[in-house]
Amino acid sequence: MTVYQATASAPVNIACIKYWGKRDTKLILPTNSSLSVTLDQDHLRSTTTSRADPSFKHDRLWLNGKEEEIKEGGRLSTCIAELRRLRREVEKEEGTPKISEYPVHIASYNNFPTAAGLASSASGFAALVASLAALYELPATPSELSLIARQGSGSACRSLFGGFVAWEMGSKDDGSDSFAVEVAPRSHWPNLHALICVVSDDKKGTSSTSGMQRTVETSTLLQHRIKVVVPERMRAISEAIKARDFPTFARLTMADSNSFHAVALDTEPPIFYMNDVSRAIIALIVEYNRASVAAGGSIKAAYTFDAGPNAVIYAPEENIKEIVQIIISYFPQAQPFNDVFGLFGGEQPKGAVPS
Ligand code: ADP
Ligand code: DP6
Ligand code: CO
Repeated sequence: MTVYQATASAPVNIACIKYWGKRDTKLILPTNSSLSVTLDQDHLRSTTTSRADPSFKHDRLWLNGKEEEIKEGGRLSTCIAELRRLRREVEKEEGTPKISEYPVHIASYNNFPTAAGLASSASGFAALVASLAALYELPATPSELSLIARQGSGSACRSLFGGFVAWEMGSKDDGSDSFAVEVAPRSHWPNLHALICVVSDDKKGTSSTSGMQRTVETSTLLQHRIKVVVPERMRAISEAIKARDFPTFARLTMADSNSFHAVALDTEPPIFYMNDVSRAIIALIVEYNRASVAAGGSIKAAYTFDAGPNAVIYAPEENIKEIVQIIISYFPQAQPFNDVFGLFGGEQPKGAVPS
């Protein structure tokens, strides 16, 4: 008997220019373009196995060993339905097994805290789409698959690629031009590293989905951000990446993290994702950069925070050791957690890959 099963993993991506706001909540179309760096496969990642079998009664999914409901019309069910539709196209070829007719069982594991502001929805939906695409042997490109991952979680579309990735917001109502594209492969800038500082692994109080919707409905500052601030930053950061210009990349990354947390605060009721430790990390990096510039050097590190208190610090490899020492000296309780100070680098990372 043939077993129809495939496994894929996808790393998280951490945005430098943040996605925050939807113009269409069902299709997950954003109010602004965004840009991120996909971390290395062997750090924070989701691994997902999908199996199709005629003996299964209906589609089911387990996340970290616990069954999650696949709600009709929900994000999981949309992604599964889209991939099945593409499989049916493949099945038009004579002799191709009609496995699209079988229910699927999907099991996924995250090797880091889920829903804690470390982008689990990004790696999670990217791995889900990649594993079903492998199961169905779809001839789709990463950008095509990103259209589907986007409908699971917006940020997931960017984890289909490794390296530096932009999610172009697009302008069409059907979302067909809202997908991820590669800005540069990881190998373009191997010297750039990321340090992940897990401040808290608690589930966040306000999910990204509900938080950003509240911002769209109540923040006046968001309008300025999406119309004026982000379009110029997208252009400038792409250029900085192409030129491997770290000081410009760093300035834009920190400015956009601040802008995102400012619109969260401008939401009614206000949303606070950072805590005192997050703010202390910002102060450390600001002082570290100030001292460097005062001594005639340049900016040496950039902080960024997603929808949670955890910090991601981007820096050239030669500065990482020093930054780790500074952080440990201020936070001696810091515990290594699956590469807390998880650098990425070394092996060439890919986006979502079948394993
Ligand atoms: P995060 O900051 O971790 O991305 P979100 O609030 O955006 O937090 O999303 C968390 C949700 O993403 C989870 O509650 C779950 O529904 C979904 N998710 C996380 N990991 C996976 C996974 N491996 N497979 C499928 N869905 C996942
Ligand atoms: C702050 O992609 O988690 O991490 O599309 O509703 O699932 P949904 O939201 P999600 O939002 C991510 C927000 C962010 C910024 C970013 O990753 O660009
Ligand atoms: Co998320």
